[in-house]
Amino acid sequence: MAFAILSSGGDAAGMNPAIKKFVDYCAKLQIETYLIYEGLEGLIDNKIKKASHKDVAGILHLGGTIIRSSRSKRFFDAKYRKQAYENLKLYNINNLIVLGGDGSFRALEVFSAEFAISFVGIPSTIDNDIYGTEYCLGVDTALNVIRDSLDKIRDTAASFNRAFVVEVMGRECGYLALVSSIVSGAEICVIPEVTFAQEELQKRLQKEIQNGRKYVLALVAEGTKQTTQVYEWIQETLGLEARVTILGHVQRGGNPSVYDRMMAFDFVINAVDYLRKNRQVQKVVVYNQGTFTFKEIQEISTHKYKLPQHYLKAINYLD
Ligand code: F6P
Repeated sequence: MAFAILSSGGDAAGMNPAIKKFVDYCAKLQIETYLIYEGLEGLIDNKIKKASHKDVAGILHLGGTIIRSSRSKRFFDAKYRKQAYENLKLYNINNLIVLGGDGSFRALEVFSAEFAISFVGIPSTIDNDIYGTEYCLGVDTALNVIRDSLDKIRDTAASFNRAFVVEVMGRECGYLALVSSIVSGAEICVIPEVTFAQEELQKRLQKEIQNGRKYVLALVAEGTKQTTQVYEWIQETLGLEARVTILGHVQRGGNPSVYDRMMAFDFVINAVDYLRKNRQVQKVVVYNQGTFTFKEIQEISTHKYKLPQHYLKAINYLD
């Protein structure tokens, strides 16, 4: 019996602590471990290496993933999945832990239906857009990067009569924008899940500007594709000079926060224990209300994540 780990899709802070804990915890249990480099691409190309403590020493505090990642198109081709399976057989690897997002889990669902391989997925994406779990690894660190940037942008915004439109990541999900709006007190939050109520907002902000408001902070989720629209709307209707900042990949970097390190440990320990005790597993370990449980990969990949309703309430999107 051997266990392997890989990271797939967008890297997320917390992957390195997870990889370290995986190797160290398995060593304690005398389970042989392998690192698969470059995600599903590396699995196809046999970039697999037996792990030792040396490989994971000094990585706990690092962002990104030392085993690197990829977005594999080839894995959607049956020929390459077979090749990947043959590679796993070479090392007797029958248990796989995958740090990734829903794209990676969809690929694995297909893989596990074809070959006798047990795996547990650990939700890892700054987007926090995976169905069935309140939390994905990397989210807290990304939110802190965004919060730090917004605090700085507010300093300069407050020094001028200006509006700042800040675009944040998240793909089709507005989680990062929504939470960042709440914690940074942004006046405008535009997310894919809610129609942008331009007129209402315009009335409220015009009144506030008449009453002395000097600057405005607008957060726009990349998935809305409305950054330019919001910028133009602000200039035209609010009469404030505006600037746009696209935070981009800076949101994916940075040392994992305390919370992400702790979550990485818990996700991994739960995943390893589950694989040790069960056969033919195709699960994702999920975290809800302080508890870790396991959901079928099929359930995760066929449902859509919904934003927490109380967060929408907090930003006046719900009554
Ligand atoms: O899924 C994580 C994420 O950072 C998204 O927020 C973003 O849209 C995407 O990845 C960017 O992907 P790439 O790094 O391939 O440009």
